[in-house]
Amino acid sequence: MTTIRVIVSGVGGVGSNMVRISQMRPGIEVVGAYSRNPALAGRDLGEIAGGTATGVRVTGKADALEVDADVLLIATTSFLKEVESDIHEGIRAGLNVMCTAEEMASPFDIDPDIARAIDQHAREAGVTVLGAGANPGYIYEVVGLALTGAVWRVDQIRVRRVVDLSGFSAGVLGRLGIGFDESSFQKRVEAHQIYGHIGFPHTMRSFARRFGVDLESVSESIKPTLADEPISSAAVAVGAGESAGFIQQTTGSVDGRPWFTAEFVGHIDLSSVGLSPRDSYEIDGLPNIRGVVEPGFNPQFTTIGALANFLPHLVDATPGLISVTDLPIPSPWI
Ligand SMILES: NC(=O)c1ccc[n+]([C@@H]2O[C@H](COP(=O)([O-])OP(=O)(O)OC[C@H]3O[C@@H](n4cnc5c(N)ncnc54)[C@H](OP(=O)(O)O)[C@@H]3O)[C@@H](O)[C@H]2O)c1
Repeated sequence: MTTIRVIVSGVGGVGSNMVRISQMRPGIEVVGAYSRNPALAGRDLGEIAGGTATGVRVTGKADALEVDADVLLIATTSFLKEVESDIHEGIRAGLNVMCTAEEMASPFDIDPDIARAIDQHAREAGVTVLGAGANPGYIYEVVGLALTGAVWRVDQIRVRRVVDLSGFSAGVLGRLGIGFDESSFQKRVEAHQIYGHIGFPHTMRSFARRFGVDLESVSESIKPTLADEPISSAAVAVGAGESAGFIQQTTGSVDGRPWFTAEFVGHIDLSSVGLSPRDSYEIDGLPNIRGVVEPGFNPQFTTIGALANFLPHLVDATPGLISVTDLPIPSPWI
C-alpha cells in the first residue's frame, strides 16, 4: 500500500478535516503543517482537529517544508495572488501542490502571467499543481460534466445549490456575507469585501473550455437573506435584521444569451427559511437531463472527500499546472 504524505498550509476548516480524514484512511498521512496563526505553533494537529493526537505539530513554514512529503495542501484563501508565493515555495521544496483557492480552478483566466509562471516552475521541478475542491472542483467539474457525458447536444445549463453554511469559519462567513445589516452588506459588496460564493465563474469557464464555446460574459448579483430572529449556532452570531444567508445568481452568456446559469442559496440555518440542502442540475439539449442530489453536497464533507480522493491522481499526473478536468474521476481508495 502506498501512503501519500501531506503537508498542510493553513490549519482552518479544510486543513483540520484533512487531518481527520487521514486518521481514518491509512493511505493518507499528514506529516507537517504551518499556519500564519502564531497561537497554533507547537500544537498537535490531531488535537487542533478535535480528535486524538497525531504526534505531528504545527511548525514554521521552513521547518514544515523540510519534511519528506508528496503533496502540499494549501487551504488558506480564495485568491490566486494570496496563494502564489506558497505555491512556488511548495514547488521549490519538490512537492506536488493541491490548492483550494477558488481562483485556482481557472488561474489562466484570473492572471495569465501568474498562472504561466506557476506552470513553468512546476514543469521544471517535475511536480504537479492543482486547484481542487467541491465547488469549484467536484460538484460541476466531475458530477456536472459526467451528466453531459452521453448527450448529443447541450443548449443550456441551469444549476441550483441550496447550501448549509453553518460549518464555515468566521473568516469564510464574513467573506460570504454573513452577519451584516442590509446597507452594510450592499456597501461591502461594492467594496469587494463580500463576494458571496466565489466558485461559479470558474466552473463556467471550465465548461466553456470543455465544450469549445466562447463564453462572452459572466455576470453576478447577490442579495442578503435577513434573519427574523437572532441565530447563534454558527461561527458568526447573527442578530435579527442581519444577513444569515444570501441568494446569488451567476449567468454565463454565449451568443448574447444565457448559456450557463447558477443560483446559490446559502444560509446558516436553512430550516429557519424552510429549506434543506439540495443540488439540482438541468441540462437542456438532446436529450434533456435533470439531476437532483438530496441531501445536497455538504460543503465540508464534499471538499475533503474530493481532495482526499484526488490525491493519488495528483501524485501520478503529468507535471505542470493542471485542472481537475485533466484528472480521472476521483473515488475513495484506501
Ligand atoms: N473550491 C472549493 O470548493 C473550496 C472548498 C473549501 C474551501 N475553499 C476555500 O479554501 C480556503 C480555506 O478554506 P477553510 O474552510 O479551511 O477556511 P478557514 O477555516 O477560514 O481556514 C483558513 C486558514 O488559513 C489561514 N489564512 C487565511 N488567510 C490567509 C493568508 N492570506 N495567508 C496565510 N494563511 C491564511 C487562516 O488563518 P487565520 O485563522 O489566522 O485567519 C486559517 O487558519 C477558503 O478561501 C475557502 O473559500 C474552497
